[in-house]
Amino acid sequence: MVSLKNSRYLQALLRQPVDRPPVWLMRQAGRYLPEYRALRAQAGDFMSLCRDPDLACEAALQPLRRFALDAAIIFSDILTIPDAMGLGLHFTAGAGPHFERPLRTIEAIRQLAIPDPESTLGYVMETVRRLRRALQGSVPVIGFAGSPWTLAAYMVEGRASRTFERIQRMLLEEPTALHLLLDKLADSVILYLNAQITAGAQAVMIFDSWGGVLSDQTYPSFSLNYIHKIVTGLVREQAQQRIPITLFTRGGGAWLEAQAAIGCEALGLDEWTSIAEARRRVGARVALQGNLSPARLYAPREELQQAVVQLLADYGSGPGHIVNLGHGIPPDVLPDQVQAFIEVLQQQPAGR
Ligand code: CP3
Repeated sequence: MVSLKNSRYLQALLRQPVDRPPVWLMRQAGRYLPEYRALRAQAGDFMSLCRDPDLACEAALQPLRRFALDAAIIFSDILTIPDAMGLGLHFTAGAGPHFERPLRTIEAIRQLAIPDPESTLGYVMETVRRLRRALQGSVPVIGFAGSPWTLAAYMVEGRASRTFERIQRMLLEEPTALHLLLDKLADSVILYLNAQITAGAQAVMIFDSWGGVLSDQTYPSFSLNYIHKIVTGLVREQAQQRIPITLFTRGGGAWLEAQAAIGCEALGLDEWTSIAEARRRVGARVALQGNLSPARLYAPREELQQAVVQLLADYGSGPGHIVNLGHGIPPDVLPDQVQAFIEVLQQQPAGR
């Protein structure tokens, strides 16, 4: 049995009592930290940083040196899978991800091979192993992957999009091709996350960042169905410890009941979803992560304090709350603001 010095995060995911709610922040490693920008400059670019396990491990540790966070997340990206599938991933400053060879035909989808995680994605597993070693049991390590729908959206569009018109058209005109792609991605994510778990990830998170562009009719079959397949295919116990799964569907607040029924331990909430209402709807079945608006991090300390008090009051008493933002830390937030947020959170009286 792995003993952790701080197991608040894993306990809260299993809805066990904790002395105070754990906190970690999406994009806790990233551009708002000057030491991250220096590290990325040293690596050359973002993907070179991801592919160097030493530097990626260092990036994951940077926020933990500054702030009293209750979990570390591996430094990587959800687009490592399509990159390993040969789509040619590039990140251009200011414009986000871009694929040289986006997927546009059923033939291209048929030809896609499911990546073997230990060979093509071995650098990610090496980052997990190094991070576990460096942390020495101080806090747990979170592994992650994108949902099949979110990965497919980037692969078909070739870049980030507001309207996602190509994949929306494919959904209508070539649903069989899209289902084939989603199924291959689900199989790839299962192998990838299981390899992360074997390498030492103690919890995993599935980012369904674009699930919210689907409709009430299409979300179940084009996104949640494949996440369900992943949850069913994951190794759920390692070294006698449960490996909890968190599902974050951004824009998915309408479908919490369905999300809570697929076998994951926790749901990540975006800032558009009331945590009080989410708790009433599904809080007896899953833990809840979130959901302070990232924009609140710009507020002066007093307002930040009010926001934290409100967030904790909205969740209410009892276990199962993991404090986080509704989405990632914006790159222009000052590190001192993040520091203030964590301080005011941890100064709240315990034992609510
Ligand atoms: O600290 C952490 O949270 C861990 C690392 C992490 C990154 N990306 C590093 C990153 C995680 C968990 C992700 C997940 C990810 N990547 C998601 C899901 C979460 C979400 O934001 O909705 C998505 C959609 C991606 C794809 C992606 N990667 C985009 C769209 C972009 C560019 C836009 C942006 O937000 O920066 C990235 C780049 C990226 N991933 C950066 C980092 C630190 C910035 C790259 C840089 O240094 O220039």
